[in-house]
Amino acid sequence: MTAKYEVHGSVAVITMNNPPVNGLGHSTRVGITDGLQKANADTAVKSIVLTGGGKAFSGGADIKEFGSPKALAEPNLLSVILAVENSSKPVVAAVHSVCMGGGLELALGCHYRIAAPGCSVALPEVKLGLIPGAGGTQRLPRALGVEPALNMIVSGEPVKSELLAQIPGQKLFDKMSASAESLAEEALAYAQAVSDTRPLPLVRNLPCKHPNGDAYFQFARNMVKGMAKNFPAPGKCVDAVESATKKKFDEGMAFEREIFTALMFTPESRSLRHIFMAERAASKIPDVPEDTPKRDIQSVAVIGAGTMGGGIAMNFLNAGIPVKMLEMKQEALDKGLGIIRKNYEAQVKKGKLKQDKYEQRMSLLTTTLSYDDLKEADMVIEAVFEEMGVKEKVFKELDRVMKPGAILASNTSTLDVNQIAAFTKRPQDVVGMHFFSPANVMKLLEVIRGEKTAKDVLATVMAVSKKIRKTAVVSGVCDGFIGNRMIEQYGRQSGFLLDEGCTPAQVDKAMEKFGMAMGPFRMGDLAGNDIGWAIRKRRYQEKPNMKYSKTADLLCEKGRFGQKTGAGWYDYVPGKRDAIPNAEVVKMIEDHRAALGITPRKISDDEIVQRLVYALVNEAAHILEEGIASKASDIDMVYLMGYGFPIYRGGPMNYADQVGLFNVVQSMQRFAQNPLDDAAFWQPAPLLAKLAAEGKSFN
Ligand code: NAI
Repeated sequence: MTAKYEVHGSVAVITMNNPPVNGLGHSTRVGITDGLQKANADTAVKSIVLTGGGKAFSGGADIKEFGSPKALAEPNLLSVILAVENSSKPVVAAVHSVCMGGGLELALGCHYRIAAPGCSVALPEVKLGLIPGAGGTQRLPRALGVEPALNMIVSGEPVKSELLAQIPGQKLFDKMSASAESLAEEALAYAQAVSDTRPLPLVRNLPCKHPNGDAYFQFARNMVKGMAKNFPAPGKCVDAVESATKKKFDEGMAFEREIFTALMFTPESRSLRHIFMAERAASKIPDVPEDTPKRDIQSVAVIGAGTMGGGIAMNFLNAGIPVKMLEMKQEALDKGLGIIRKNYEAQVKKGKLKQDKYEQRMSLLTTTLSYDDLKEADMVIEAVFEEMGVKEKVFKELDRVMKPGAILASNTSTLDVNQIAAFTKRPQDVVGMHFFSPANVMKLLEVIRGEKTAKDVLATVMAVSKKIRKTAVVSGVCDGFIGNRMIEQYGRQSGFLLDEGCTPAQVDKAMEKFGMAMGPFRMGDLAGNDIGWAIRKRRYQEKPNMKYSKTADLLCEKGRFGQKTGAGWYDYVPGKRDAIPNAEVVKMIEDHRAALGITPRKISDDEIVQRLVYALVNEAAHILEEGIASKASDIDMVYLMGYGFPIYRGGPMNYADQVGLFNVVQSMQRFAQNPLDDAAFWQPAPLLAKLAAEGKSFN
């Protein structure tokens, strides 16, 4: 049982004890109801304190029970709260540190609440596409007032207990303890003081009114609609809180339950819950136990102060880790340093960074032209030109100077990390750290595991990535790793669509309507069309039988590389990122189509979305099968964090699961019939075919 029961004089104390945050799993719930029964049966007990052991009152639902029947097993949270309300002896919640979700709903069911300062209080269910489901939408407005309660419920963000206690007329906290340390003692005293008070106060009996309710809820709805257009839950929070002001308590509870249950089954909530779990799962590597010892990383060196080197350095400076940057020439160092400065100064100007923080970060950055100055660094990340010859030189130098045990990482996006590791006498210390541009902004980090990369190196890099606030996903070595290998197939399909009758704007619009941050052609213009061109030229040599549209090559031959040249698939005005369709490009596509003898056809948005997304999915299935990615949810994280895949769709694999793999395979078989497409590519990957045939899903 994960709750403790003790009696101190006339007060029974029930302490939830389910680390790390006293999640309200089944055994904790049983512990609470058992404690209540004992206390009510014991004539020596006059009142009850309910609190949490360790670092929280309670963080709410137990994520270990997510989606399992145990989560709903009796006593469920609603029954526990009812048992608390029905206790014939007063129950005082003593909240501290963390009081969130079901934890707050439980506290709201208690007769009294005493809070320690510094406690984070929240109803974060909206972040999982839900509304609070155990009375939070009905009790919090009664206890705190309608407006602050709705703010908390719709944002899901935590507010400190001492701030909430200052809200005029609030009944959320009957008392604040002087400090976190004195909470237990003050709660005991409070419980003794109220032991004879009858009738026992209940939040459900408090009035719930807004003086201008209709107007207020209309404003709230307008606001929420604008901000949360693809998510149903925030609007439902407004409905639920409004019902607290209009319906009787029990009717409001039933309404809340109805909404909660309906939201549970929406694709948006499923996606958000999937991401919640996927994010936690990404840091777990199947054969690297969590207790693998980690190397100590106190200082970092970065080789190359170009686009990526500068951004990478900023990540570490932001985390308070000193960085030494090396370049070949002083001018390159000065230039790189200048860009970092400018980036920080822009943040200071916007008020996002304080001047002293900026200075503090810059003071952690030093530069050098000599490898010998790097030898004390615990970790070095190389971001020089993408040429094997250059990487060879750099890694041989690093092997010569770096102290034993230092981690040697490469930011290469296309080269073989095993080959790079072989330039050193310590391949076990070599790993890929593939950042995405701009490296100081993008959340994704692909950690490339070489054949010989040591487990403690991987464990260390995963821990470091957390420190620099990246979502790290492990990928094996292959061309393009997870993300870029998939995007190549997506790009190939985009090319076929142009040949068959689409314009770039039509494809982009369809994908953006689907929810992608940017369609494929706008993305190409942003990343630089020359990058794809270089890769294709290589492919024409390596895989002469692979089918490609040549339209993108024609574009590049015109020098239209994208935003950096002011012209790509679209035109750009200096200083702006708006993509302006260009008639010449459209004509170029039409002429090429005519030259191929293709009669254009009208292609639906559905077909565009399916071909592009399923191209990702099929390649991803190969990636999974080859063990390049260890789980489907890792692939989802790559696309959500690095490629602008819509959050509410939960990533390409989760989306395919939602569509149903059987349906996905059916569509692929249809695409394979299209003579202008690549029939061989549309053969479902064996893993995908198998899962579809067995009626299973990726996740
Ligand atoms: P960049 O051309 O902006 O910067 C490279 C820098 O390395 C230059 O400042 C150059 O002076 C310096 N350099 C070259 N050889 C050197 C040597 N032997 N010793 C010390 N410094 C040297 O290139 P960028 O874009 O920063 O790319 C660097 C690496 O990051 C490449 O491996 C690239 O594939 C990878 N990458 C690039 C991404 C991007 O979007 N640009 C994304 C992810 C990875």
